[in-house]
Amino acid sequence: MKDTREQWGSHWGFILATMGSAVGLGNIWRFSYAMGSGGGSAFLIIYLISVLLLGFPVMMVEFSIGRRAQADAVESFKKIAPKTAWFIAGGFGVLAAFLILSFYGVIGGWSMRYTWEYISGGVTGDSSAFFTNFIGDTFSPVFWQSLFMLLAVGIVFIGVQKGIELTSKLMMPILSFLIIALAIYSMTLGGTTEALNFMFRPDWEAFADPNVYVTAMGQAFFTLSLGMGIMLTYSSYLNPDERLPSSAAIVIALDTAFAIISGLVIFPALFAFGLDPAEGAGLIFIVLPTIFEALGGIGVFVGLVFFVLFTLAALSSAISLLEVSVAYFMRRFNKSRKVVTVLTGIAITLLGVVSSLSQGAMEITVFGYSFLDFIDGFTGNVLLPLSALLAVIFVTWTWKNDEILEHTDTKDTSWGPSFIFVTKYIAPLAILVVLIMGMLNWLS
Ligand code: PHE
Repeated sequence: MKDTREQWGSHWGFILATMGSAVGLGNIWRFSYAMGSGGGSAFLIIYLISVLLLGFPVMMVEFSIGRRAQADAVESFKKIAPKTAWFIAGGFGVLAAFLILSFYGVIGGWSMRYTWEYISGGVTGDSSAFFTNFIGDTFSPVFWQSLFMLLAVGIVFIGVQKGIELTSKLMMPILSFLIIALAIYSMTLGGTTEALNFMFRPDWEAFADPNVYVTAMGQAFFTLSLGMGIMLTYSSYLNPDERLPSSAAIVIALDTAFAIISGLVIFPALFAFGLDPAEGAGLIFIVLPTIFEALGGIGVFVGLVFFVLFTLAALSSAISLLEVSVAYFMRRFNKSRKVVTVLTGIAITLLGVVSSLSQGAMEITVFGYSFLDFIDGFTGNVLLPLSALLAVIFVTWTWKNDEILEHTDTKDTSWGPSFIFVTKYIAPLAILVVLIMGMLNWLS
């Protein structure tokens, strides 16, 4: 089995799969709101700097570990640094991916249910009550969650090239087309000026607000799917002649573009109907359906397109999360991809059922959070930054500068030394700030 490790079929296959992981719920329901409430173009600038000083280095670090070791998130550390405890960094990543997928699947299921709803006439009337009733139900959300997980399992089951790569090559162009089409339509509704003011207004005072920096760094981190072994696992299917810096740059640019265009879908429509900007599940499942209904006949179609898009974005992230666990368990228990994918999928779905039930059907809380919010908070605020921090320290402390340059393909660049400097000193500090502030916010 060792010698036949799977590989991506092409450069673009790898990029699109990675982009599929990065583009997800975070882009659609969080980025533009964070931008609008965090100083508009000031936030954008701070975000881009965060990406440069934190996102790019961490992505490069994860890429270089995976490609160098050609193994799963845990084994990679063991291969490069035998008989050390560094593999724990990968272990945190695998755990994070496993836990995140459990509730990501629940939200993916909600999105599929809404897609179905728009196939059969759309959500009408009190959209807030509709949503609360649906997620508070016992069986229905679990049914849709299982269906969503079944899709993810099906794709990962088929394998890296024919499953993940092929579906990404199909889904990413469709997603890009749909989001651009929706943005153009939304901007005809009459709220564009206000939307642009909300999103891009230059509020330079934001530069003095520490919270804006923490939000921007946290967003850079989450939206690029860092700290959960994804980039590491995906790059382990690369052959050595892939150029890592340009791949990372392309993924980051596409992900950011997608986030901004999502804002151009949501906010012009929102302002056209005089609604207040919001973020998260409420925005997607309560506010948008109100707008779709107000649009009249065409609204059902627009709603359908939107929820197809939202489901696909969630699905392409879900498969990357699943692949991390599958790659790990395949090696750990020396079993075939098919068996491992099915069993892992079932385990993650069952854990997700607890999250689903915690949304109203049952009282399942941890430290005062619903189970879903607890897992979300714990992974996002603790596991992800911790795993990424360790990976960065691993590479910058235990590899010689020459090795770092070689394994990140920065040897013959003029910026290689600055890259090492940023990765060694600035990125870990920034992650530490994210970790501490995130935990303080979460625990308070
Ligand atoms: N990057 C995805 C987004 O922006 C989120 C995600 C996080 C995906 C973790 C996979 C893993 O929504």
